[in-house]
Amino acid sequence: MEEIYLIGNWKMNMLPADVLAYFDKFLINLRKYINTKKEKRDIKIKTLDAVKTIFAVPYIDMFYANLYANEEKRIEIAAQNVFHIDEGSYTGEVSPLMLKSIDIKYSIIGHSERRKMGETSKDIFQKANALLKHNIVPIICIGESKDEEEKKKTKEVLKKQIKEIMENINDKNSMQKIIFAYEPLWAIGTGKHCSKDKANENILYIKEVLKEEGIENPKVLYGGSVNAENAREYIETKNIDGLLVGGASLKHTEFLKIYVEIIKVLNKE
Ligand code: 13P
Repeated sequence: MEEIYLIGNWKMNMLPADVLAYFDKFLINLRKYINTKKEKRDIKIKTLDAVKTIFAVPYIDMFYANLYANEEKRIEIAAQNVFHIDEGSYTGEVSPLMLKSIDIKYSIIGHSERRKMGETSKDIFQKANALLKHNIVPIICIGESKDEEEKKKTKEVLKKQIKEIMENINDKNSMQKIIFAYEPLWAIGTGKHCSKDKANENILYIKEVLKEEGIENPKVLYGGSVNAENAREYIETKNIDGLLVGGASLKHTEFLKIYVEIIKVLNKE
């Protein structure tokens, strides 16, 4: 069974005290749901194992979030960004080596909110190379703006974003691990999610380009105004390998509902 990723990107939200409150409740409800399914013999372990549930949390929250991830193996913690050098005089930055030291296995890079602050393709491939060196999976965000979409330049933009990064990834073996997230800028935080057909078409295209760049079995997620009502349709398309969820991941009840929607699709309910 193919893995499906459910990644909550908390962005710059959640104080450490909120993290404790969130996970205390989220994990109780998650276990309750899973135990009920198991008692009813309504689910296979491999179905549960297929869902990779990851929280991309602010650095300040990582220590607390990690305590929960150590206790509940069904959740993992990711960074939202990283610097491209392991150590040195870079005030305010956090290195891949530091992430590795606390067992962080994923980092988002190239999110459009960071690109807006000046992050370039060069920054992104440098970060990707630095992460891969430490066996941390880069989750690279790409997507077109409203204007580019209206001018029918989506595919051109996506191809350029991918090539500028992928042509500069040094280690051709470890690059197989990279995950991409298609996040159309106009769908982020707007409540206007991309239709499943359009997301599917663009993700198929992204996969074609990634194959040209040497990724044999590319994993591409969708992100942009995902919620419990629309999550199912993306997962049902089969080409979409998971969801990168912003706003709806901040409420543990809503995020669990999205998890349940994914399980239902995998469990053919
Ligand atoms: P929203 O789900 O709030 O639209 O955010 C998407 C996103 O940017 C995830 O990285």
